Amino acid sequence: MSHFDLVVESVRRDTPLIRSFVLSAADGEPLPEIDPGAHLRVVLPDGRDRPYSLVALPELEAAGKWALGVRLEDPGQGGSRYMHALAQGDRIRTSAPINNFPLSIGPASPVLIAGGIGVTPLVSMAAKLARHGKSFALHYAARSRDHFAFLEELRTICGDRLSLHPDDDPDLALDISALIASLQSETPIYVCGPAPMIDRVKAEAAARGRDPEKLRYELFTAPVADPQGDAAFQVELKSTGQVFDVPPGKSIIDVLESGGVDLLYDCQRGDCGVCQTVVLEGLPDHRDAVLSDAERASNKLMQICVSRAKSPKLVLDL
Ligand code: FES
Repeated sequence: MSHFDLVVESVRRDTPLIRSFVLSAADGEPLPEIDPGAHLRVVLPDGRDRPYSLVALPELEAAGKWALGVRLEDPGQGGSRYMHALAQGDRIRTSAPINNFPLSIGPASPVLIAGGIGVTPLVSMAAKLARHGKSFALHYAARSRDHFAFLEELRTICGDRLSLHPDDDPDLALDISALIASLQSETPIYVCGPAPMIDRVKAEAAARGRDPEKLRYELFTAPVADPQGDAAFQVELKSTGQVFDVPPGKSIIDVLESGGVDLLYDCQRGDCGVCQTVVLEGLPDHRDAVLSDAERASNKLMQICVSRAKSPKLVLDL
């Protein structure tokens, strides 16, 4: 896999939980332009890597630099803690940009819906739409007024196309049902945020018979996994018969990789679908944003990056 060695040019505290980082190439060459929706996988000191969305801001792109926004997750998420400890001049290694959430620019005016740190890819989308002279609207929800990241940039890019929705203001909190009901059937929707927001947008869109092809989404918080509420379970691999113990706080991918099993995965948030695995026996505890309701109910497929087990053991087609 190609990689980039980057230097942290600056760190900014955007909100009490979100920091943004401007990055340049360690060799001084300009970094390539990125497609809105792309993310990088940042290599952590222990060799694991974590995905963070790139923010394509016009003035940075012109200077050949990239930016990332990172929310400090709870202590289980070592990646965000590592990122928040970075200072100007530090170096990081990343993957090349990967885009599972591309923007299509067509005749219809898209609506962008962001929740919390999920705004990062949508900043890039708004910037590209504005640059192409396209009309769009960006609805941005956060827990309160001081939790809006990239606010100055968004105001510059979007002007009156930006609507802010602090959850703690009953007059301004985002009403997803009313928003979706107000959209024309051909309006493309891009949503990035926590799983409950995405689920709600998907459900409202489905209830109104909207074309699922016009709804693109990316999950943008670590899946909710309360280690205290999670039980240990076992995973058996069909190919070798090996059995692994998956403790609370570790994913199936974490455990299998440590045991030397070669796996395909990307987002590790349950929204890209790359790690999808066939379940031969047992009952998965689905925590992804990929499977349809019918697939979930069949219990024959699961995303092994985030989902766990309701039964003591799963047999997987691996
Ligand atoms: S790695 Fe993306 S859904 Fe599991």
